[in-house]
Amino acid sequence: MTPLSILLVEDSDSDAELVLRCLRKAGIDVTHERIETGDAMRAALASASTRWDIVISDHNLPAFSASAALALLREVDQDLPFIVVSNNIGEETAVALMRAGAHDYVMKGDLARLPPAVKRELSEAAQRRERKRADEALRELNEQLETRVEERTSELRQAMAQIIESEKLASLGMLVAGVSHELNTPIGNMVLAATALYDKLKELVAAAENNALTRSGLLLGLQECQGASAIISRNGHRSSELIDSFKRVAVDQTSQRRRSFDLRATVQDSLAAMGAILRRAHATVELRIPDGIAMDSFPGHLEQIVNNIIMNSITHGFDGREGGNIVIDAGCCGGIVELRYSDDGHGIAAELQHKVFEPFYTTKLGQGGSGLGLSIVHNLVQAIFKGQLKLDSAPGQGVHLTFTFPALTPHTPPH
Ligand SMILES: Nc1ncnc2c1ncn2[C@@H]1O[C@H](COP(=O)(O)OP(=O)(O)OP(=O)(O)O)[C@@H](O)[C@H]1O
Ligand SMILES: [Mg+2]
Repeated sequence: MTPLSILLVEDSDSDAELVLRCLRKAGIDVTHERIETGDAMRAALASASTRWDIVISDHNLPAFSASAALALLREVDQDLPFIVVSNNIGEETAVALMRAGAHDYVMKGDLARLPPAVKRELSEAAQRRERKRADEALRELNEQLETRVEERTSELRQAMAQIIESEKLASLGMLVAGVSHELNTPIGNMVLAATALYDKLKELVAAAENNALTRSGLLLGLQECQGASAIISRNGHRSSELIDSFKRVAVDQTSQRRRSFDLRATVQDSLAAMGAILRRAHATVELRIPDGIAMDSFPGHLEQIVNNIIMNSITHGFDGREGGNIVIDAGCCGGIVELRYSDDGHGIAAELQHKVFEPFYTTKLGQGGSGLGLSIVHNLVQAIFKGQLKLDSAPGQGVHLTFTFPALTPHTPPH
């Protein structure tokens, strides 16, 4: 075992000898350097060749003292066990020394206490070092963790951005699929009917040229032509409606007239216009909007909002059910209108709620849904009504929409 390396702050040879002898007698193998001044201590501490284990210091020396030695240790930031060995010092001085960082003090008359004190302090210093190492390791680990978390967060952010981008692309794909699917059916029908019409007319013309046209043959032929043109006309209208609804995504503020109106009356008008649809779906609407909420805005756009959200309740919320209930309520405070719409339908799952406002997101692709309804509603609320729209929903809990907008829509300067 390497001997204990002691820095002995002591001016008296004999006292130093006493200390060393006492330790050796207790079986502690020691080497030491004795110093009497601050400079000497500083030099000893700075020495690269010695690693000090402990400082044993007299209380008062002619040119130095235990408290000055303690201050010096603090200054060079060395955590060495420090034991004061001294002639009688008062309790107050002892306490002051302990406060200044001394670990123990032993009276010169009671040196038998020194070896156990040295052993205890060495072991405590080892524990302190161990703790410090562990703290250091923990701190390093924390730093590494923080760096890793930062790296992962930034990776996640990039991944999120990519997901958003690819979702946009997917939406675009859905648009193309939706548009072509929706238009495919009516246009396909028109092509079929037009071909049938052409063939039938050709047949009739040939029969007429050959004088083979009978009265009943002509009538039957004309009826078939009428049927085919009805198909062409119906599907032509459907195609043009579809194209109109695609165009509505781009909200055109100038296309609608602005005027003063009563909120309840306008919503009631929309409901009346939808009466047949609501009755067919066995949907009831409870209109709780009080009279007298005066608005100065675009009633046509408001009707479109009401129309879209009611159609959604019927086609999505009450899909496969006997019917359902809708409640429309509103209040106005400080010029701000809050319009609340609720249905008691299937509701929308949390993970889909951010998607339903995206254009062309629909769960009814190929069954009449183009995914534009809510995106139009959202655009209208923000761009026209300068307001906000909040969606609350959960599967089985219905859909609750809260619209907030100024009763008097701010005028925006024309572009
Ligand atoms: N009241 C509702 N209850 C349940 N789901 C709804 C409701 N409203 C909207 N959704 C869901 O949100 C999706 C998007 O609605 P949005 O109105 O934008 O499109 P759509 O109704 O599918 O098609 P479009 O309105 O263009 O005919 C719907 O496909 C449906 O899944
Ligand atoms: Mg819709």
